[in-house]
Amino acid sequence: MRSGSAVTPRLWIVTGTDTGIGKTWVTCRLAETLRARGTRVRAIKFLESGTDPEPSESEDGVKLARAAGQASPSAALRRYRAPLTPADAARLEGQTVELAPIETEMIRIACEAESTLVEGAGGLLAPLNHRRTLLDVARRHAASVLVVAADRLGTLNHTLLTLSMLDFSGVPCAGVVMNRLPDADPATDPSVGRNAATLHEVRPATPIVETAHPGWDEVVLGWLRT
Ligand SMILES: Nc1ncnc2c1ncn2[C@@H]1O[C@H](COP(=O)(O)OP(=O)(O)O)[C@@H](O)[C@H]1O
Ligand SMILES: [Mg+2]
Repeated sequence: MRSGSAVTPRLWIVTGTDTGIGKTWVTCRLAETLRARGTRVRAIKFLESGTDPEPSESEDGVKLARAAGQASPSAALRRYRAPLTPADAARLEGQTVELAPIETEMIRIACEAESTLVEGAGGLLAPLNHRRTLLDVARRHAASVLVVAADRLGTLNHTLLTLSMLDFSGVPCAGVVMNRLPDADPATDPSVGRNAATLHEVRPATPIVETAHPGWDEVVLGWLRT
């Protein structure tokens, strides 16, 4: 991992197939499990849009900080008001998202921790500014990417598109977390509980776990160690 530091930080980037599919939930659970093991963990929201003027409990960055038990950063590294992709939310505030200083902050934080989980904004190709995405950040820092997918109809296409883009870009995928959202109901969506098995059949080399199975977090942390 290139960090400009003698210390190689353990940095994992968490992305997902969409917004609202459990990236923050999964990242918080992983941070809590690491913390319970006594690992010095940091959980960071890279950019957050749709924020109030002051950080509130509903913000991803605040939830992640609480889960990791960190005083700093206590909220996302950059926060924007409008509930839009960061590129557009920043533009509405007359700003352009400059990624280099944010990445420098991210690496500085990661160098102080044993494990650092970084949640992006939206999916892998959501514009962070009008030229760059989270994929560029992952590539630049040789970070492994964890993909969170919603266990529902349509997820196979979204997940395979995300994995294809990682493959195409030469960015390693740590694995896929197939997340059972609270409103998922196998009675009305028979893909719930089947998507992981189908994905495994299509991509047998990609590690896949389901949050519906207790102990999934330990499995994921096993991937992240390697
Ligand atoms: N496995 C889960 N169990 C319970 N609640 C979940 C689970 N996954 C997501 N949620 C809830 O669903 C909502 C959206 O999840 P969130 O993690 O914020 O999505 P994202 O970060 O992808 O936008 C949140 O209220 C979150 O607490
Ligand atoms: Mg989130």
